[in-house]
Amino acid sequence: MQPAAFVFDAYGTLFDVHSAAARYADALGERWLTLSELWRTKQLEYTWVRTLAGKHCSFWQVTEDGLDYASAAVGGIDGDLRGRLLDSYRKLAAYPEVPECLKALKARGSVVAILSNGDPDMLADAVNSAGLEDAFDAVLSVAEVGVYKPNHQVYELATARLGVSPTQVSFQSSNRWDIAGAKSFGFRTVWINRAGRPDEYLDLAADEVLNDLNGLLR
Ligand code: LAC
Repeated sequence: MQPAAFVFDAYGTLFDVHSAAARYADALGERWLTLSELWRTKQLEYTWVRTLAGKHCSFWQVTEDGLDYASAAVGGIDGDLRGRLLDSYRKLAAYPEVPECLKALKARGSVVAILSNGDPDMLADAVNSAGLEDAFDAVLSVAEVGVYKPNHQVYELATARLGVSPTQVSFQSSNRWDIAGAKSFGFRTVWINRAGRPDEYLDLAADEVLNDLNGLLR
């Protein structure tokens, strides 16, 4: 059965979060990837802690906080570079297969949407800078519910707004913890395992595992 809607996580799934720091690899030197990975790890940790503690803040705030922790951990960066890295995060590169793949799914008549932790303005910047303005029927942000993934209220936002049941949704994420949350909610799940990571959350297994989005078109 063809899913009624293809719903995508944004950061790490459609957009390469490491492209922000990669652009400044020369200025950062060999520590750029350590900084970038720590930035992402802390950004996500802060979303989980804030949701569990009932202290929601914007995704932009956890993105800034994550960068500040990561910068301190690698020995510090100057304020000018901090500003440029944050600017760069608003214009992340889409993975190469993303534009054509989304276009093909839409041409088949599927609803195509984003469901992301990102703030609405961050998502708009990412979508526009990647030239994906026409790719989506809906760009849904957790800002509407005031909690982060994997709280079920987030996944529920997609079914409510798209007017579909969980089993009619194919949900794609490169974040294995997001797949676990989406699976427990009842979505059909596709783990986009771009980095070839080992599997986890085995009792909340993905329905399908792909290296990139191209496999969705088979
Ligand atoms: C998102 C993060 C989890 O886009 O990647 O929701």
